[in-house]
Amino acid sequence: MEFIDEALLEYAIKKSSEESDLLKNLRKETHQKILHPRMLSSTIQGRFLSFISKLIKPKTILEIGTYTGYGSLCLSEGLGKTGKIHTIEINEELIAFQNQFFNKSNKRDQIHQHIGDALTVIKKMKKQFDIVFLDADKSNYINYLKLIVPKLKKDGILISDNVLWSGKVLAKPEKNDIDTKVLQKFNTILKNHPQLETILLPIRDGLSLSRKI
Ligand SMILES: C[S@@+](CC[C@H](N)C(=O)[O-])C[C@H]1O[C@@H](n2cnc3c(N)ncnc32)[C@H](O)[C@@H]1O
Repeated sequence: MEFIDEALLEYAIKKSSEESDLLKNLRKETHQKILHPRMLSSTIQGRFLSFISKLIKPKTILEIGTYTGYGSLCLSEGLGKTGKIHTIEINEELIAFQNQFFNKSNKRDQIHQHIGDALTVIKKMKKQFDIVFLDADKSNYINYLKLIVPKLKKDGILISDNVLWSGKVLAKPEKNDIDTKVLQKFNTILKNHPQLETILLPIRDGLSLSRKI
């Protein structure tokens, strides 16, 4: 579900800075070769991630849910020479595809791929992060939040994707619709969290920005 008229979205893309050819090719090949291409971050969202990253100039970024690596490459655009992005993906079949594009990036050595269940991987991480991009299994969003907040630096930014869940957050969920139930609760927790200041942006499927106070 898009929340804005298609022609207006096209206009917004045209009037925004363009994504690189590497990202264009990644998007095209994801659609041609990989299942569920809807999981890709959109062009506008990608430019937004890149913009935020360039503003924050992060030393360390964590991405939860790599998929084909589009978000990782967008976020990596803001890394200085010593900065690093750690990105976690449970589906190891995607690694070869990610590498095809990561290897062409001038940030290649700064991108660290982790394969496995993100909850397990994050629990073992000792790092503190300037930016966390939460974009994996929705049913675990609250569990991720509990792990992430202590690992966010002061003024660090948590970016949570799909928080409007195609509009389903507005209605009472079906009995078995765990994802919607978790996202509704997650959005309320973010709003009331004593360590976070949050703004829910209606970009595409909903993107929350939370700053650690
Ligand atoms: C929406 S996609 C990520 C899109 C990507 N961040 C982007 O910007 O293009 C979600 C990804 O999370 C992965 N995922 C789902 N559950 C996971 C888990 N428990 N641990 C790690 N990755 C997971 C999925 O396999 C999928 O590739």
